[in-house]
Amino acid sequence: MPRLYDKQHAAIFDPARYCVIEASTKTGKTVGCIIWLVEKAWNEGQPESHYWWIAPVYAQAAIAYRRLKSMLSSSDPHHHSWTSNETETNVTLVNGARIWFKGADRPDTLFGEDVYAGVIDEATRCKEEAWHAIRSTVTATKAPLRIIGNVKGRKNWAYQMARRAETGDHPNMSHHKIDAYDAVAGGILDIEEIEDAKQTLPEAVFRELYLAEPSDDGHNPFGLTHIQACKTQHQPTTEATWFGVDLAKHRDFCWLVGVDDKMALTVSDRWQSDWQASTQRIVDQVQSTPCLADSTGVGDPVVEGMHRMRPNIEGFTFTPRSKQQIMEGLAVAIQHHELGLYDERLVNELESFEYEFTRTGGVRYTAPEGMNDDGVCALALCVHCRNLRPVSFGVRVIDYAPATMNEEDDDDGVW
Ligand SMILES: Nc1ncnc2c1ncn2[C@@H]1O[C@H](COP(=O)(O)OP(=O)(O)O)[C@@H](O)[C@H]1O
Ligand SMILES: [Mg+2]
Repeated sequence: MPRLYDKQHAAIFDPARYCVIEASTKTGKTVGCIIWLVEKAWNEGQPESHYWWIAPVYAQAAIAYRRLKSMLSSSDPHHHSWTSNETETNVTLVNGARIWFKGADRPDTLFGEDVYAGVIDEATRCKEEAWHAIRSTVTATKAPLRIIGNVKGRKNWAYQMARRAETGDHPNMSHHKIDAYDAVAGGILDIEEIEDAKQTLPEAVFRELYLAEPSDDGHNPFGLTHIQACKTQHQPTTEATWFGVDLAKHRDFCWLVGVDDKMALTVSDRWQSDWQASTQRIVDQVQSTPCLADSTGVGDPVVEGMHRMRPNIEGFTFTPRSKQQIMEGLAVAIQHHELGLYDERLVNELESFEYEFTRTGGVRYTAPEGMNDDGVCALALCVHCRNLRPVSFGVRVIDYAPATMNEEDDDDGVW
């Protein structure tokens, strides 16, 4: 079996239970993971313990099956330590462990087994239901999984998993990225091959396939190049001039952001706690600086409480229309490269945020399924706060409104 190059080994043999590996084409994902799976089966396998290899369709899984067989044949051609079953496409090792090769195209066939280690190859092309099914097979065994593939746009569960793994918030998840230049350094790809691809392929395709950078296929309202242009390396030491805060509704996070008078992000604080602790945390950081807080639904009494303590903390109610308005305000600030964003988590949320067309012909601004937009909302509130509470000649003239403002109620004097 080939010896894995350092970066390939570090990604695939990472101790985390779930490893999401976004890698470009021909960097050795498949071979590396075949080795990982057979080693698991070899070292830890017991009679009748199952190990799974999943590819988007069965025919692709069968290719990996043949690659495993040829690797095993080269070291043990006489089948002392393994046997295979052509009709079921599985390999059984002498310790009784069995490695199965299956397609994700029929997720209903993927339930019901206890699996001791699994690989999901070309995960961006596998159905999300297949992922749910495979996840269920490792519940009892607490088994490790490798989720590998080329990147393919942003609208797929594997992309979303990768973003979650990348935050570092989940100790049992890790994220790795391997691009074509890493494979060159690892000695398995020729640099000329990559340069040729760069000349001949459209840029977006080259970036996906060789640099493992997803293309802009979502409906991102801000523009990915503009978001990138707003990125900065360091958190500035200046004080915030405006704040925006999104309050956690159910499982998601509270997120407080502040920008200075040059619109550089100075604070990006994300946490989960009860209302009382959250209120304190916001009040302590905001002090007397203008702040717009999301007062939609359960947030309303909380914002009212904060407003009593600090009149400069005002509420904002999200409706589809008001959300669209403040997101468009944020889009203008991003497209004019006004903002400076040091926080990678916030940049990630901005990049995956999207608009979709509703059945009635309207536009809805939202995070893709399974992802959050707390940071985007907080930032949009912050920019809206700047628009409402401008500083002119260094002097702020403030006439604070009642706790909650609502754009829908134009004519009752609140706005
Ligand atoms: N560590 C390695 N040493 C030598 N050859 C390797 C190594 N890893 C992969 N290869 C070879 O590189 C080619 C691409 O590997 P593959 O696993 O198919 O890549 P991917 O799945 O990322 O497209 C294959 O021919 C494979 O045998
Ligand atoms: Mg492959």
